[in-house]
Amino acid sequence: MKNHITKGVPTLEEAMLILENAEKINPGPWIGHCKYVAESAKLIADNCMDLDSEVAYILGLLHDIGNTTSGETIIGHIMEGYHFSMERGYHLLAKICVTHSCPSKNISDIFDAEESNTGEEYKFIEDFINTNEYDDYDKLIQLCDALGLQNGFTLIEKRLIDVALRHGVNDYIIPKWKAFMELKDYFDKKIGRSIYSILPGVIENTFEL
Ligand SMILES: [Fe+2]
Repeated sequence: MKNHITKGVPTLEEAMLILENAEKINPGPWIGHCKYVAESAKLIADNCMDLDSEVAYILGLLHDIGNTTSGETIIGHIMEGYHFSMERGYHLLAKICVTHSCPSKNISDIFDAEESNTGEEYKFIEDFINTNEYDDYDKLIQLCDALGLQNGFTLIEKRLIDVALRHGVNDYIIPKWKAFMELKDYFDKKIGRSIYSILPGVIENTFEL
């Protein structure tokens, strides 16, 4: 992929180095999660005529890159990821760093938005998701974020419960969960079969077989 900058993402080699470096600074389960998000994004994109599967893989790999320095708060990792990407000219990655946390296009999709509201950042994210259309890359990474655990692929519902148990729930949880179900339907239709049918080990991993 020679024109990676015009596509708004780093090259695959750069992306892998960025994640490697991130792991040295802040090791943890989020690194494995990113690798499975990347893998599922690539596998699904491989089955879509209009998506570049290498771009999908890179976006999946780095969607949580803000975790390197953010202390892994939701709003913090969005802003750190956005700034990291924009400073390097990766505008598509910057967009993904924001949109992946808001599948229902509502600031309340972010569990800690109220507590960690610094005013400016809250307003920035709210404006960003209200003024940017979600394209298939945004939708794909939102979906894959819900498919990737640290050690493999999982049933979306299992991942949603896992997140809810760690971060709690708010009044907007149901629209958010509906958004994930709609994303699954959208990509099932786009690839002409269930997304689970192309994710190796998803049944074994989900049911711990
Ligand atoms: Fe993620």
